[in-house]
Amino acid sequence: MPFLPDPRRLLSRSMPEFDLVAPLYDATRRPPSPAELGAVAEALQTCTEVLEAGVGTGRFAKPLSDRGFHLTGVDISREMLKRAGEKGLPRLLQADVHRLPFRDGAFEASLIIHVLQLIPEPARALEELARVARERVVAHLPDHRSGGLALRGELLQRYGEIAAEMGHPLPPRRRFWENTERVLRDLPPERVFVVEEDISPPTDPEMRWRDLRGFGGLITVPPEMHERIVARLLEEGRGDELPLGPRTRTLRVAVWETSGLRQLMKNRSERRNGGLRF
Ligand SMILES: C[S@@+](CC[C@H](N)C(=O)[O-])C[C@H]1O[C@@H](n2cnc3c(N)ncnc32)[C@H](O)[C@@H]1O
Repeated sequence: MPFLPDPRRLLSRSMPEFDLVAPLYDATRRPPSPAELGAVAEALQTCTEVLEAGVGTGRFAKPLSDRGFHLTGVDISREMLKRAGEKGLPRLLQADVHRLPFRDGAFEASLIIHVLQLIPEPARALEELARVARERVVAHLPDHRSGGLALRGELLQRYGEIAAEMGHPLPPRRRFWENTERVLRDLPPERVFVVEEDISPPTDPEMRWRDLRGFGGLITVPPEMHERIVARLLEEGRGDELPLGPRTRTLRVAVWETSGLRQLMKNRSERRNGGLRF
């Protein structure tokens, strides 16, 4: 019997779904493109002592350290960290980005990739990243308006209904785009690099469906149940709803000088406190 988490636990901050997704993570995602890596490297400029928060399996950290960056990686998921360790990354630590176990200014730069939109308090995370970085903070995240994963909308809803019928309701989807966009508006980055990511589905028709298990709550569905749900969706004629052609989505690499970001945060908190004064 595979380990199945209580879906209520998935609401906690610790994100146990990443422990589950760890073995599938790299297989269901493309390695970062040269353009993406180039944008991150350019954003970091001359900073080489870098903290990556939410380092995951080291998908970015490994090629960045191969380019000469001295990366320290933290992540909340032990299983994701284990995969990063298998790639030979030397400085890895289990920690929460909202409470980083480093002294002020411990790194030249801090970096966060594909994480801000997943956490409920992106502003708090940026504050921590600014605290530990002497020079700059770099955040890499998709632009959610530019398209998302293949299983969405009505198809995802139907998948969820069938999963629930089979006794395995999907955990609630947790994406905090509004919080993240608000933070980007309130704390405007000094520079934003824009790159395109290829998110075309695999060409093998079977793999298209298998691939989906690596994303969001679907990882909690046992593999044999996933196969049965997919068979039902195909019987219902919903196979054509998967976007099958080549697709891209837009990614943003936002850069703040630490001093500028701290000032923006101070102004933001003064505005907020000011609003309460009477
Ligand atoms: C979508 S993955 C991105 C991983 C990697 N940066 C990449 O781009 O491949 C999100 C990562 O953030 C981690 N994470 C989620 N919440 C976190 C938190 N509060 N503190 C630290 N890491 C967190 C997850 O465990 C996961 O490894």
